[in-house]
Amino acid sequence: MLSSNITQIQANSQRLDQICATAPVIPVLTLNNAEQAIGIGKALVSGGLTVLEITLRSDYALAAISQLKLALPDAIIGAGTVLNNRQYQACMDAGADFIVSPGSTVELLRFGSTSKVPLLPGVASVSEIMQAMALGYRRFKLFPAAVVGGIDALKAFSGPLAEVKFCPTGGIKPSNAAEYLALDNVMCVGGTWLAPKDLVKQGDWKAIEALAKSAAQLKASQLNHASA
Ligand code: 3PG
Repeated sequence: MLSSNITQIQANSQRLDQICATAPVIPVLTLNNAEQAIGIGKALVSGGLTVLEITLRSDYALAAISQLKLALPDAIIGAGTVLNNRQYQACMDAGADFIVSPGSTVELLRFGSTSKVPLLPGVASVSEIMQAMALGYRRFKLFPAAVVGGIDALKAFSGPLAEVKFCPTGGIKPSNAAEYLALDNVMCVGGTWLAPKDLVKQGDWKAIEALAKSAAQLKASQLNHASA
């Protein structure tokens, strides 16, 4: 039997709802130095994407989280690719506002269920979702979304798992993001397309800002389209 703190995890679900309501897309970023962190972070925020996920895929990630928290006090800075409790703690110490994992382990789920910094656990199947639900979780990252069924899987989940909502990530692009965002059980989507390697290499922050501007409009244009 898994133990958890139901009050804390309900508060964490509410916080995740607020975070995901802030912007339709969470850029998933791998940052290698201060110049990149500040350049990309400022470009995305001025383009309207104020929730960022900094992955632990570079040695610079924890420093980037601390630096962005200082440089962009109005942004919400999360940590991604968190695989274990040691990394979870390190990200909290660096100031992360939320934690994202690509998958779910019992160890991580337990830690997240008592933490004041919310965990958005990665899931790819109904059984994983049910196991996390037993601890009180209702908000998940569906990963890798496109590989595990994408839109069709999310539609199928909405029947038996009516109270669950997702941030699908993995294979989301400008061409399909609006379709995901139109689903009732999708809170927001995540993706790496906002900071493509070539633009980062060139330091072309203006182009990244333009990508952010168009991503920030996604939900609005989908709704306008639906009501037209
Ligand atoms: C993630 O960690 O969420 C993924 O790397 C994002 O996948 P994408 O590159 O398909 O956006």
